[in-house]
Amino acid sequence: MKKIALTGIKPTGIPHIGNFLGSIQPALKLSESCEARYFVADYHALNSTKDPLAIREMSLQIAAAWLACGLDPDKGSLFTSRAECLKPFELLTILLAYTPKGLMNRAHAYKAMLQSNAEAGKDPDDGVNMGLFTYPVLMAADILLFDTDYVPVGNDQFQHVEMAVDIAQSFNYIHQCEAFRLPEPLAHETSKTVLGLDGRKMSKSYGNIIPIFAPEKQLRKLVMKIVTNSQGVEEPKDPDTCSVFSLYKCFATDDQIAMLRERYLAGGMGWGHAKQELFEVMNAQLSPYRERFEQLIADPGYINSVLQMGSDKARELASAKIKSLRSILGID
Ligand code: TRP
Repeated sequence: MKKIALTGIKPTGIPHIGNFLGSIQPALKLSESCEARYFVADYHALNSTKDPLAIREMSLQIAAAWLACGLDPDKGSLFTSRAECLKPFELLTILLAYTPKGLMNRAHAYKAMLQSNAEAGKDPDDGVNMGLFTYPVLMAADILLFDTDYVPVGNDQFQHVEMAVDIAQSFNYIHQCEAFRLPEPLAHETSKTVLGLDGRKMSKSYGNIIPIFAPEKQLRKLVMKIVTNSQGVEEPKDPDTCSVFSLYKCFATDDQIAMLRERYLAGGMGWGHAKQELFEVMNAQLSPYRERFEQLIADPGYINSVLQMGSDKARELASAKIKSLRSILGID
């Protein structure tokens, strides 16, 4: 039996290099050997965005991003939460009853909000809605509903997958059964080092992203904006503490990486040159995806038909799972 890989992306911003390296690229690699279930986590976006037009537009872009980067539409592995008949939300209600509140108190995203509120002298729960607080349980529902083995995600999502395991174990233990398969998070090696323009982790909330499909000119402009230190051309530079080099490693071949490393260490290379090298490897890899993305985004009817096919298949699988859970719960 093929292993099952599942991941989702929230449509809260345009698809960026962090999504590409952390989730899309490793997920596509996995889809060669696993049964893939990849989705647009549209309802999930409501916790932070209330703008219907933005959710619709970004959902379309995320779906187009998956397809442009190479997800095979004929395998029916791309869907949205909304079209999948809301089964994750039924499972969410079940799982909430098996989730200790204390587990949610320990979630990094929630704790970060408490801390930033404390630093701003605000009420600890200012701006925290219950969707955000219980988000790890919703993610657990997405994952457990499909008997997922692997969840390709960036490091920031690891804790969520670990929580899904905790919740699944609690259910299995209480009912003395193997109702839920225990998932494993998988990080792309380089997802540890996807840094944004300002040297912090690339994230839509920091406003430091590089869009995957930025037109060539904009891509070059953004790469040139990456913050570096103020060392002069002649000085030798440290590749291991440099955001430009860390991104270069994600796009270049081993030989190219070794060569640029030498140029860093030798001195005589300015930041402009390093950035030009980075732009070239990024552009070479991304330009075919960009072209495909532009064609796809011009044809929303096609994207929606792919999503429909994937959602039909997901709904069938999800309904069977919920049926078996209801019988364990005695509410069938
Ligand atoms: N939390 C992910 C994000 O922020 C999206 C997501 C929702 C997800 N459900 C998931 C990822 C299940 C992996 C598995 O983009």
